Amino acid sequence: MAEVEPAVARSAELEAEILAAPSNFRVLTGDRPTGPLHLGHYFGTLQNRVRLQNLGVDTILVIADYQVLTDRDVADDLPGHVRELVLDYLAVGIDPARSTVFTHSALPALNQLLLPFLSLVTVPELQRNPTVKDEIAHSHQGSVSGLMFTYPVHQAADILFCKANLVPVGRDQLPHLELTRAVARRFNDRYGRVFPEPEALLSSAPSLLGTDGRKMSKSRGNAIALRASADETARLLKGAKTDSERVITYEPQRRPEVSSLVLLAALCRGVDPREIAEEAGAGGGGTLKRIVTDAVNDHFAPIRRRRAEFAGDPALVPELLRDGNLRAGAAAEATLAQVREAMSTVY
Ligand code: TRP
Repeated sequence: MAEVEPAVARSAELEAEILAAPSNFRVLTGDRPTGPLHLGHYFGTLQNRVRLQNLGVDTILVIADYQVLTDRDVADDLPGHVRELVLDYLAVGIDPARSTVFTHSALPALNQLLLPFLSLVTVPELQRNPTVKDEIAHSHQGSVSGLMFTYPVHQAADILFCKANLVPVGRDQLPHLELTRAVARRFNDRYGRVFPEPEALLSSAPSLLGTDGRKMSKSRGNAIALRASADETARLLKGAKTDSERVITYEPQRRPEVSSLVLLAALCRGVDPREIAEEAGAGGGGTLKRIVTDAVNDHFAPIRRRRAEFAGDPALVPELLRDGNLRAGAAAEATLAQVREAMSTVY
């Protein structure tokens, strides 16, 4: 993708601007509630969200429950998945006093933005979206729904309803952010300035492979969940794919599976991957897996403990969502009022 390099460079500049003036930024990012979050999410995005929150950036997290329906007919157990997602957020340090967590289906005003926004994009533009194309290729459905093609526009509403100016995303989401910027620009050109043009903040975290050596993903069944027990973690890592070379080294290009395990241990312990590789050395895959298992279980023990405590309070998640939906709903109402004013649809 052509736009990755400039986004990487711009992200470094943005990091400096955030440190200098965190209160100039409002972050919007989020997740589809399709299952528990895993170590890939943690090191890829969750840690970064907590860091931004703790720096004083206004942080808003969308639980994209409608987006679950892009590649399946029915979303199974949404309430359960939403609850687990919120518990994951709380466990890693998302603080509801500082961050807002909401479900986009609960905000009528956010969803109404979809209609004017759809008028600002063309069908070929939606058909060209590389992320959507990829998702269609991996879809569980026989034919593609209208929501699949238009969800990036709905995602623009997720971002623009609260006038976020910063969106921490993975590279796969860059096309969506480009579309969001286009929607904001076109709306402003056509009706007068209402929206900021949000920028992508790419994380510098390298991505982790799953236990089968492919990208870690809940749908592939190769992920280690944040909430997994120590025993389950040990079992999953024991079955992780390695290679036939005896001595452990850190060579991500040549030895992706072994190197991803080395990296996982290094991220948990906060050290350089080469240090882990040296430690495992001639001990081979068995030693490496023991090191990784201990590192993961040590790092996540307090997070998992907190998670279990939060899970023991059944009122916590509903209260948090009620509060988050109220706050986000008020922002959506205010923005929709401006949009209706700008479009001269106030009667
Ligand atoms: N599409 C994102 C994902 O699949 C989730 C998401 C929905 C999102 N709305 C968003 C991310 C707005 C960033 C900004 O993970």
